[in-house]
Amino acid sequence: MNPVTELIKNLADQHGRSRHNLLPILQGVVEQEKYLSEFSMTEIARELDLPAAEVYGTATFYSFLEHKKMGKYIIRVCKTITCSMKGKNQIILAIEDMLKINAGETTPDGNFSLLQTNCLGFCHKAPAMLINNEIYTELTPEKVREILSTYLKKKGESNDN
Ligand code: FES
Repeated sequence: MNPVTELIKNLADQHGRSRHNLLPILQGVVEQEKYLSEFSMTEIARELDLPAAEVYGTATFYSFLEHKKMGKYIIRVCKTITCSMKGKNQIILAIEDMLKINAGETTPDGNFSLLQTNCLGFCHKAPAMLINNEIYTELTPEKVREILSTYLKKKGESNDN
């Protein structure tokens, strides 16, 4: 079996095959593959018995449709209204400053990509961001720097890159 097909089958076994399991499955594929290909989307649609347009629409909404390889850690900062009003710009600036990249870019060592995404469903705890599939809420620039430090440390400890 194609490794991507197998990955999607395993994710569907793990999360379930109904419509509301689509998001964790998309996240799981992006986490493993670092991006979402047309092939992956077609396979997800087949596995969950959903129209491909629905998979594509969800992936677009959450900015999962990256056509280039992403970093090992993908940071997605919510840019929707509540998070915007609660200071997401300062969050982005703190991350840009720390990683020395702009939003939309990947660090030269391939460890971090910084993206903006739509509402993550944590508006009551805005501003919010995802790092891979881990959610972080009620962010401040200080809190973000602490969180990133732990990821930078993890990166330093692992020898797999
Ligand atoms: Fe940011 Fe909803 S507006 S999580």
